[in-house]
Amino acid sequence: MTITLVGHGYVGLVSACVFADLGNTVYVIGRNEDKLLRLKSGDPIIYEPGLEELLKKNIAAGRLIFTSSYKEAIPASEIVMTGVGTPPTPTGEADLTSVLAVAEQIGQNLGNHFTVISCKSTVPVGTNRKIKEVLDRVKPAHATFEVASCPEFLREGSALNDTFRPDRIIIGSDSKEAIDLLLKLHEPIEGERVVVGLESAEIIKYASNSMLATKISFANLISFICEKTGADVEEVLDGVGLDKRIGRMFLYSGTGYGGSCFPKDVLALINTGTSMGVDMTMLKAVDDINKKAQTNFASIIQSSAPGKNIGVWGLAFKPNTDDIRFAPAINIIKILLEDGYTVTAYDPEGMDNTATVFGDRIRYAANPFEAAENKDALIIFTEWNEFKQIDLKKIKETMSSPFIFDGRNMYEPETMKQLGFTYYSIGRKNI
Ligand code: UDX
Repeated sequence: MTITLVGHGYVGLVSACVFADLGNTVYVIGRNEDKLLRLKSGDPIIYEPGLEELLKKNIAAGRLIFTSSYKEAIPASEIVMTGVGTPPTPTGEADLTSVLAVAEQIGQNLGNHFTVISCKSTVPVGTNRKIKEVLDRVKPAHATFEVASCPEFLREGSALNDTFRPDRIIIGSDSKEAIDLLLKLHEPIEGERVVVGLESAEIIKYASNSMLATKISFANLISFICEKTGADVEEVLDGVGLDKRIGRMFLYSGTGYGGSCFPKDVLALINTGTSMGVDMTMLKAVDDINKKAQTNFASIIQSSAPGKNIGVWGLAFKPNTDDIRFAPAINIIKILLEDGYTVTAYDPEGMDNTATVFGDRIRYAANPFEAAENKDALIIFTEWNEFKQIDLKKIKETMSSPFIFDGRNMYEPETMKQLGFTYYSIGRKNI
């Protein structure tokens, strides 16, 4: 097939590379010429394991075409997918400006044949009908089309695997023709097919992300209780998670969830529900607990660190990404800087992005050892593999005082005690 992806962020570019790798011809539409040039040269711009190789391979095979021209891509395509951003407005609603502007451009350029316009962006319920209205209004008279909602569930850091082998593929549409074409496109991809109405597909995405965020906030709430009682949250959640109805996945306490999805999607669903008169107390608590997980951790550092010259390991909102959007590390570093702390940070991928936020207000270390050297305390925000078995003896020898505040429970408290550290972790006895 020939298809178009509008947008080249995580969703757009990863989907484009995967569909191209399966043998399709894929146009990718962007609006920034500099970024398009980088993409054409094989630079994915974002850091995602395996993406650069897949990008280069499919450019070389002539299956990936980057362009800013709707005129070039849309009439050539049977399916047009949109993966543009829906960032939160100051009041927490999803901003649909890009999604609707893109719909207008697609509509104006529809070709003579039948086209499916499938929205992969996370959009509030009712948006696909709005997209249909826009398309109907601006399309050439002879063009025929149908809309579908195909929400994307990829996680950063494992995006390729999640796209080749998702748990499920959701296809929401009123049109059998659109559903059949999308089923055909997804044929080589694993996962259950769930064919539903437009509104259901839109809500599935928000409900999934909100459910996962709820599990995390629940784990954090239990960690607050564990901290007050001497219980160990890891033991507690192991015990809870072994119940197959609950499961241990996404039941890890820490400094809260970050990233480009959970924080904004929880707020957007609260907004949607509230606007329809639904009491959204439950999700408001999820958001509130997530904020508390961050401020509590900052308070523990402020009350217990022996000095204000600190090292930081991990800036990205999770390992295997350079994404720092809504990262707990960034929020907590802001609090500490305001309180007069000096911060030296190390992250394998996230330092360039962090420099755009803090500039020279913090220092950047070349490796984890340098970040810890001569520091009063070391703070861990992201559980990168390279920290898991690092030589902690060596770290301790170079620190001014051997204090570690671990926001991701990476080490065993008993081992840390034996090594001579004062070790604070989440929801466990501090040693
Ligand atoms: C998420 C969804 O998982 C994905 O399906 C959706 O398409 C986009 O949003 P992503 O944001 O890439 O993906 O990361 P994810 O692995 O879900 O982690 C989100 C945040 O939750 C991270 O900050 C992570 O550290 C945190 N988290 C995750 C926890 O604090 N505890 C957990 O148990 C799991």
